[in-house]
Amino acid sequence: MWSDARLCYGGDYNPEQWPARVWAEDVALMRRARVNLVTVGVFAWSRLEPAPGRYTFDWLDQVLDLLHGGGIRVALATPTASPPPWFSLAHPGALPVTADGVRLHHGSRDTYCAATPAYREAALRIAGALADRYAHHPALALWHVHNEYGTTCHCEHTARAYRRWLADRHGDLATLNDAWTTSFWSQHYSDWAQISTPRATQYLANPGQLLDFRRFWSDTLLAAYAEQRDLLRAANPAIPVTTNYVLGDWVPVDHARWAGEVDLVAVDHYPSAVDVGAEEQTALVGDLARGWARHAAARRHATATAAGDPPAAPDRGAPARPDPAPTWLLTESAPNQIHTTGRMHTKEPGRMLRHSLAHVARGSHGAMFFQWRAPAGGAERFHSALVPHAGPDSRVFREAVDLGAALERLTEIRGTVEASVALAVDAASGWALRHPGLPSTRLDHHDEVAAAHRALWHAGYGCDVVVPGDPLDGYRLLVLPALYLVSDATTGWVREHVQRGGHLLATYLSGAADEHARVRLGGYPGALRDVLGVRAEEFHPLADGDHVRLADGGTGRIWAETLHLAGADVVTSYAGGLLDGRPAVTRHRSGAGTAWYVSTRPDDDTYRRLLDRAAQAAGATPVHPDAPAGIEAVRRRGDGVSWLFLFNHTDRDRRVPARGAELLTGVRIDEAVTLPPGGVAVLRERTG
Ligand code: GLA
Repeated sequence: MWSDARLCYGGDYNPEQWPARVWAEDVALMRRARVNLVTVGVFAWSRLEPAPGRYTFDWLDQVLDLLHGGGIRVALATPTASPPPWFSLAHPGALPVTADGVRLHHGSRDTYCAATPAYREAALRIAGALADRYAHHPALALWHVHNEYGTTCHCEHTARAYRRWLADRHGDLATLNDAWTTSFWSQHYSDWAQISTPRATQYLANPGQLLDFRRFWSDTLLAAYAEQRDLLRAANPAIPVTTNYVLGDWVPVDHARWAGEVDLVAVDHYPSAVDVGAEEQTALVGDLARGWARHAAARRHATATAAGDPPAAPDRGAPARPDPAPTWLLTESAPNQIHTTGRMHTKEPGRMLRHSLAHVARGSHGAMFFQWRAPAGGAERFHSALVPHAGPDSRVFREAVDLGAALERLTEIRGTVEASVALAVDAASGWALRHPGLPSTRLDHHDEVAAAHRALWHAGYGCDVVVPGDPLDGYRLLVLPALYLVSDATTGWVREHVQRGGHLLATYLSGAADEHARVRLGGYPGALRDVLGVRAEEFHPLADGDHVRLADGGTGRIWAETLHLAGADVVTSYAGGLLDGRPAVTRHRSGAGTAWYVSTRPDDDTYRRLLDRAAQAAGATPVHPDAPAGIEAVRRRGDGVSWLFLFNHTDRDRRVPARGAELLTGVRIDEAVTLPPGGVAVLRERTG
């Protein structure tokens, strides 16, 4: 097992940046803070292999033995995100090339092209050497492959690999030409050799080419991960393997698809907002990570069932359900400063604990940090650490010690996270809405996901992120936030949910295009017109700062539509302006279910009220209906027991009705718990 009973606590540990005399102090401080897992060696390639094929493992031997002696487990990294200088000198052709044709040079990290054979071979060699030496080391709990896969390249190796990938995906050129609509602007390809990566070009690039390039990189990086994983697994099948996800719309990785290839979904999270926005982002990322883990569990279950494999619980005589609470792990977060535009914002006292527990509440099996000790030099010398520049006699380290103790008090927590709403997320829709040539530069699937999630979070509903095709049993409401690319299979998935009595709320542009980013004709929202009972004839993107008014007092931004009813009823209409009196939000009874359509992006308050109304109509209830405003409630359920996490995001004391044993203080709560500003409580609500 990669984790003992305890929640994981620790972070990136870079002993190669320190003289050996510091290591013993590190282990002593880790023990004081109750650190139980550290990620070692992430960027240590040049210290492990200072010259091709010459390995210097003695220092790592000592470090792992020391950690083991201190009872601290290790997630051992393969250092392949940072090739050493000798590699780049020997293989200049493996340095990455930008879309403008500029070759990047050594001097930072990630200076490789993952489609280049020389890089892949060197990466496998160092991973193999680590596996040979450490696969059975008693400290080893987990392999951490690479770091935050997310690079792209436009070199000749990449172009060749891209063509091979395209041939595999499309089969023949006629199919590719059709998918990419190459009849437009004379782009018809008559030979595979004519196709290049989407390099910088004169004017707008082809959307199909751009979209497939992202998909290609997701698959190429996944192959690079998988070959290391297979080698590590072969060395010791008992040790699970993962890689840490980096989030951001620049990342060419389909995290849901990758989730099926890792033994543990591992996510790094650094909020970019400093106010309540940081809490909203933390909640969203926790729900995303859990969603990816659940998606992978559902896929594994479906594959096993299709193959007729024996059920996981044979005594029950029926195939077991997919694991409803698969584990995931927050692998990196910042102990202190939030990096926001142009400056670092010092986290207020208590915020490290609050963010960590917000992730645990959403299913993370612990809280890990970047990094253990702040270095004196190097590019990230001012990044925060559990042991800051000031040393252990510091607020941050004292909070780190308190956090270690708090996490130990939560060891018993397991089980599902209560959620009655499903929110659909789709990597390809995110990529496609970043393309040039769209009606507005403000269209963004991930922003729409965040806006819908924020509205649900403020309204108090538990929310699971789902990927199109995932099982929807048990959800009262499915939300599609600008789910732009909808294949026929996804259309069927949505339709079936509504036909069977489910409730749906889709926002503008959902279903507007197919999986090749070609617009579906006949009016928006394309594939979903019939289920939603509407047809949008024209769109009206709004300027920055502009808004549309709604008849119910709400406001919308970014987008509006000339919408015709085709079976749906009006929930509210536009008020004033060009669209005065026309439908803005509609509701359609379809099959046994109900489908809402929202043709603009409601402002936060409007969205919260709207989603609250749709969720209530669907029969969903907030996690803690009696919680005062500004209190976040998350519930996890185990067998005969549940745990209620409460977070006070206001600047006042708040009294929250609750009953149970408060685990952080050990105090029994009979009626209500009073939370100070920024405070957290975790209650064991009942035992069975
Ligand atoms: C990422 C990386 C780390 C470090 C942090 C800084 O998550 O994995 O190596 O660069 O960002 O926030």
